[in-house]
Amino acid sequence: MTEIPTRRLGELAVSAQGLGCMGMSHGYGASDDEQSIATIHRALDLGVTLLDTSDFYGAGHNEELIGRAIAGRRDEVVLATKFGFANRLGEPTKIRGDAAYVRQACDASLRRLGVDHIDLYYQHRVDPDVPIEETVGAMAELVAAGKVRHLGLSEAGAETIRRAHAVHPIAALQSEWSLWTRELEQEIAPLCRELGIGLVPFSPLGRGFLTGRYTSTEGLSETDVRRTQPRFADGNLEQNLAIVEKLDELAAEKGVTAGQLALAWVQHRGDDVVPIPGTRRQKYLEENIAALDVVLSAADLAAIDAAAPSDKVAGTRYDAASLAFVNK
Ligand SMILES: NC(=O)c1ccc[n+]([C@@H]2O[C@H](COP(=O)([O-])OP(=O)(O)OC[C@H]3O[C@@H](n4cnc5c(N)ncnc54)[C@H](OP(=O)(O)O)[C@@H]3O)[C@@H](O)[C@H]2O)c1
Repeated sequence: MTEIPTRRLGELAVSAQGLGCMGMSHGYGASDDEQSIATIHRALDLGVTLLDTSDFYGAGHNEELIGRAIAGRRDEVVLATKFGFANRLGEPTKIRGDAAYVRQACDASLRRLGVDHIDLYYQHRVDPDVPIEETVGAMAELVAAGKVRHLGLSEAGAETIRRAHAVHPIAALQSEWSLWTRELEQEIAPLCRELGIGLVPFSPLGRGFLTGRYTSTEGLSETDVRRTQPRFADGNLEQNLAIVEKLDELAAEKGVTAGQLALAWVQHRGDDVVPIPGTRRQKYLEENIAALDVVLSAADLAAIDAAAPSDKVAGTRYDAASLAFVNK
């Protein structure tokens, strides 16, 4: 494996691939903290710098876990966390972006992480009831206070991004982008490029589905969020498996795994793109990092596009309740 290259999110230098830490506390069933910490350590050893978390993941557990993992290694890490969900997983969504909440959320994250600053602080979802100028104004004050270095948004719409960026430079937009979720290519990615905002695709492996590992929801825990996601629902899942089968064939031709092909495709979107695949396991971490070495020709990219046409993806990426809070 070659050395991990550096990419820029606005002015922030990060490894070309980050590690999504959500699944270590949230969404994908029970986890083992020691295994998760070992995975984070392995990521740092291999040269991954960007660690992605949120105060929402495991209701603070994920930040505490990362705090434990990076104790003594803070200088090796570009630490990204998020605020905005004022509810717990499973409760009705309540987003808060008022200035008082932003200040309080940041202090709580710093405490849980055990650090004196956050490198990249995202608003996790836009609060429909608070002008973005108020939210980003409060985030900018955190930068002035030295608590935060760079600002980000997640799942923000075009108008919000423009207005936010006018208040304070936005370094990164973190939104879903993968072979089966390509909506942001139309308006959002071009806008980010116009404004110099880096792109951080989340769920770049389609929540693991694009690796071919999930052929049914039977093995998933009762609380696994994928059980609520339409693409994993009976009928849709079978149709979506046809896409994975084609990816698998193309991957075999290149001597890589389907997951590596899916990640390499995301990485070929541009030098301003830094995906954050999530895993709790060193084995997958190493496989995902090795995808940085996969070079795709124009013909490869065309074949991958043809194997995964957006109109053949069955089901929306979130249920209706969650879709109400994206691209806002
Ligand atoms: N901003 C947002 O609203 C938002 C939303 C979702 C996610 N995120 C962030 O994005 C990160 C990544 O997204 P994600 O975790 O939802 O989805 P993902 O990266 O597309 O997929 C993660 C899933 O794939 C599995 N996996 C990873 N590498 C694999 C491999 N090489 N082979 C087989 N299976 C593999 C993981 O399993 P194991 O865990 O068992 O290893 C996990 O179940 C999250 O950790 C989080 O930090 C942000």
